[in-house]
Order: sequence, then C-alpha cells, then structure tokens
Amino acid sequence: MRFPVEREVHLYLQPLAQGTMPGHREWSLLAGDERLRASTFRRALDRQRYVACRSWVRNVLSSYLEIPAAAIQFRYSSAGKPQLSGESARSGLSFNISHSGGWALLAIACGLRLGVDLERHRAIDDRDLLVRRFSPAEQRAYYSLPPEDRLAAFFSAWSRKEAFIKACGDGFAIPLADFDVSLGPGEAAALLAIKQDEQAPRRWTLAAPDLLAGYSAAVAIEVPQATLVLCSDASPTERGQPAPRQ
Ligand SMILES: CC(C)(COP(=O)(O)OP(=O)(O)OC[C@H]1O[C@@H](n2cnc3c(N)ncnc32)[C@H](O)[C@@H]1OP(=O)(O)O)[C@@H](O)C(=O)NCCC(=O)NCCS
Repeated sequence: MRFPVEREVHLYLQPLAQGTMPGHREWSLLAGDERLRASTFRRALDRQRYVACRSWVRNVLSSYLEIPAAAIQFRYSSAGKPQLSGESARSGLSFNISHSGGWALLAIACGLRLGVDLERHRAIDDRDLLVRRFSPAEQRAYYSLPPEDRLAAFFSAWSRKEAFIKACGDGFAIPLADFDVSLGPGEAAALLAIKQDEQAPRRWTLAAPDLLAGYSAAVAIEVPQATLVLCSDASPTERGQPAPRQ
C-alpha cells in the first residue's frame, strides 16, 4: 500500500468478528502484552473483538511497512495511545483506532498527529449530565436544537471531541469544556475554537465521514485541509469515495 501523501489520511472500516472465537492465526500475530491484555477481558465478546481488531490493524500496517504483521512493535504514550516503535517508527506513519458496536475504524497518516472516533448511536441515561461537560457554546447549540435532533447532535459532538482528544493523546490533556466543535445537523464538522490557542482551529482539520447508518465518526488531524481517503484492505485499490453505508 502506498504511504499517505502530505495532508492525506487513509481510513479503514472493519466489522469485528462476532460469534466465532479468534483463531490461532489472529492470536499468533499479537505481541505478549496484547495477549495479556486480551486475557483480561471478562466478556468473551470483548476479548474476541480486541484480538480481531489488533490482528486486523497489524495486517493493515504490515501492508504499508512491508514487514510481517507479527513483527510490528508498538509503544504506548503515558496516556495509553499506541504508536509504532522500533524500526517501523522510522517510517513516520501515525495511526489511531476506534471501535464501537462491532465495528473498528483505523486512520493512518504520515508525520501528522491524528485521532479517530467511532460511536454507535445509543440511548444514554445521563446524556444531559455528559452535555454539561461540553463547552458553554456547545451546550447552547445543543439545547437550541429540537429534541428529536439531539441524540445525533450529541454523538456528533462526542465523536468530534473524542477524536480531537485522541489526536492530542500523546501529549497534553485538554478539558472537554475548553474547546468547541460543531454539532448541528447538516453543519460541517469543524474545530471552532480552543481556549488560549486562537490559531489552533487553523492548524487542525476535523472531519466527520459518513460511514455507517446509526453511527457518528470523526477524524482530527493536525494539518489544515486534510484529505480523507477511504481504503479497503480486502483490495489494494483505494476507493477514494465514501464507503457504502451498511
Ligand atoms: C482511550 C480513550 C482516549 C478513548 O476510549 P474509547 O472512546 O472508549 O475507545 P475508542 O474505541 O474510541 O478508542 C480505543 C482505542 O484508542 C487507542 N487509545 C488508547 N488510549 C489512547 C489515547 N490516550 N489517545 C489516543 N488513542 C488511544 C487504542 O488503540 C484503543 O484501542 P485498543 O483498545 O485496541 O487498544 C479513553 O481512554 C478516554 O479517556 N476517552 C476520553 C473520555 C471522554 O471524556 N470522552 C468524552 C468525549 S465528549
């Protein structure tokens, strides 16, 4: 697979296996610490999804790095963000993973900080409590919407904020109320403001690709005007157009 060019982000969407235990092949791709982590999941489904996701991510990264999937080494930031380590870190590839409701989303770029989030729309009992953690401008935008639009707006905001937090995940921690994202229906995804960093919205791209019905997805990349390319690891041909909604 060719490396992402400047300002480009490659996106991969993958259903995670359901109902079947990960096979020996998937387990054998994982590093010792990943196997240990897998064994700590109490629910078999969570364990199965973790192994399916990590082995898939390794396979996709292997197609870029041209080394065996099992040979890829990860290191983790103090906040837990996985990054390439060892020889493959020299490639400059950065990546981030999100999973929700049996799907995984992987974003890959070169030399850019990035974060990704995927959220299945679901009922959340304490949604208002969570909205209170949003910025004042976001809360105003949220409550100005008719009630029937608020669930989707909540997950738009959540996924955009989370993607940004995850992009920053190897460095500073930023309080949720200290930055504003767009959230209204039909409003383009945007990082609108960051407290004490007026230039930041110009440095970042926040995108919300429409990937799956009933889900919100967001990608944050520290570069202006990034381009998202939807790729398929089943076929090396990049589609460069929205994936079919499921
Ligand atoms: C990891 C974290 C950053 C996201 O968790 P999440 O939304 O439950 O999970 P996602 O599926 O989107 O992402 C998990 C993946 O992100 C990666 N990840 C872990 N820590 C990370 C970090 N600090 N930064 C970026 N990515 C991270 C890992 O690859 C992980 O996948 P893994 O389980 O296979 O290792 C979470 O620890 C967190 O603290 N989130 C902030 C919570 C919050 O207040 N959100 C409100 C948004 S409005």
